[in-house]
Amino acid sequence: MAATSSFTSLKLSTASTTLPWKSRHSLSSSFGVATISLRCQHHRQLRRFVVISMDAKPTILVAEKLGEAGLNVLKEFANVDCSYNLSPEELCTKISICDAIIVRSGTKVNRKVFESSGGRLKVVGRAGVGIDNVDLAAATEHGCLVVNAPTANTVAAAEHGIALLTAMARNIAQADASVKAGKWLRNKYVGVSLVGKTLAVMGFGKVGSEVARRAKGLGMHVIAHDPYAPADRARAIGVELVSFDEAIASADFISLHMPLTPATSKVFNDETFAKMKKGARIVNVARGGVIDEEALVKALDAGIVAQAALDVFTAEPPPKDAKLVQHENVTATPHLGASTMEAQEGVAIEIAEAVVGALKGELAATAVNAPMVPAEVLTELKPFVALAEKLGRLAVQLVAGGSGVKTVKVTYASGRAPGLTLTQGCFVR
Ligand SMILES: NC(=O)c1ccc[n+]([C@@H]2O[C@H](COP(=O)([O-])OP(=O)(O)OC[C@H]3O[C@@H](n4cnc5c(N)ncnc54)[C@H](O)[C@@H]3O)[C@@H](O)[C@H]2O)c1
Repeated sequence: MAATSSFTSLKLSTASTTLPWKSRHSLSSSFGVATISLRCQHHRQLRRFVVISMDAKPTILVAEKLGEAGLNVLKEFANVDCSYNLSPEELCTKISICDAIIVRSGTKVNRKVFESSGGRLKVVGRAGVGIDNVDLAAATEHGCLVVNAPTANTVAAAEHGIALLTAMARNIAQADASVKAGKWLRNKYVGVSLVGKTLAVMGFGKVGSEVARRAKGLGMHVIAHDPYAPADRARAIGVELVSFDEAIASADFISLHMPLTPATSKVFNDETFAKMKKGARIVNVARGGVIDEEALVKALDAGIVAQAALDVFTAEPPPKDAKLVQHENVTATPHLGASTMEAQEGVAIEIAEAVVGALKGELAATAVNAPMVPAEVLTELKPFVALAEKLGRLAVQLVAGGSGVKTVKVTYASGRAPGLTLTQGCFVR
């Protein structure tokens, strides 16, 4: 940018020890002094002392337990406040002094939280994948970026899905409980084999495709339903993409891996259970809300669904006497999909790096309320985003400065087509 200022040099140095008014103003050690030297065209040097905050570190609230490795990443950059089990009121009070918050699935970051932040909250980090506990619309309206850790727990969730699938087929949980109760029921717990059976993977994303890969290794015939998955990705691992109805009508086992959205809420209900192959078995390590739990109890009682293995529930924890959990053909685990040592460590680091990166103003590859772009495109876009931001700042300064500027003309050339120069005019007022 052409310099229109009459100053020809600007030097900035900081020194926290030479604070001239230290004794009079008893400033804390987190303040320092910056010396700004301005040399003007007439060689007259102006010197200004400015008090600056040395404690410019942002504050990150960690509202649910996060692995040590992740906390260390955060602490290198920010003040970290680990406050677990906050009530909604406490959270709303605390949030007003935080620049970022990290949660797992147990903390509701709702509209009230964003409103209470008074505009200070810039980033919400969800240590995991599902973001149904974060009000995305409210986050966007309040200019707050939501990032998650989508990759670190994929394998853990897929392994848990397979563990539930095999445990359910061989009645492992029920048989274990009976042996511990002093019984020896070898006839009661005859299982079913997996080999040659059809598994329908509902939601062919990260977890779903890993489950499919593993199920193929167990000798299963795998089909999948996912309205957004590219057929060639499925074909590459020998999986056929089919319609919802076809999947549930032909599957012996159904494994759920779609997100909970308005479109998938209670998508397994009386009507869909009625279309299933009689005696189908269901695994759910996705989200409880995708199944209508009352309808599942009825389907289990009627033998339409022979067994269900569930890691997730509409209400977590489910009520103690919930018919579904108590059903003898149901195997239940307490949302353990991501609970391996390796995944927890991985998620902690992934989310800490995402939150720190977002606070630094870097492009967030795992932003949930911003367009998702592949990593390679993101790298290419990076300098343009920085340029766009600078141009935006320039435009605001020109307008706010009352300069009378009405139009800015931007001329740019592309590295891909060096001969081509484009000129664009745009109004800034
Ligand atoms: N139990 C756990 O601890 C645990 C751990 C990890 C993930 N999860 C859950 O598993 C689910 C999948 O996670 P992921 O990482 O694979 O997510 P992902 O975004 O990679 O995959 C989800 C897939 O579902 C598809 N989908 C969307 N709407 C659909 C619909 N109506 N029908 C069928 N498919 C649909 C999407 O196109 C996408 O391919 C999420 O709900 C996530 O919250 C649970």
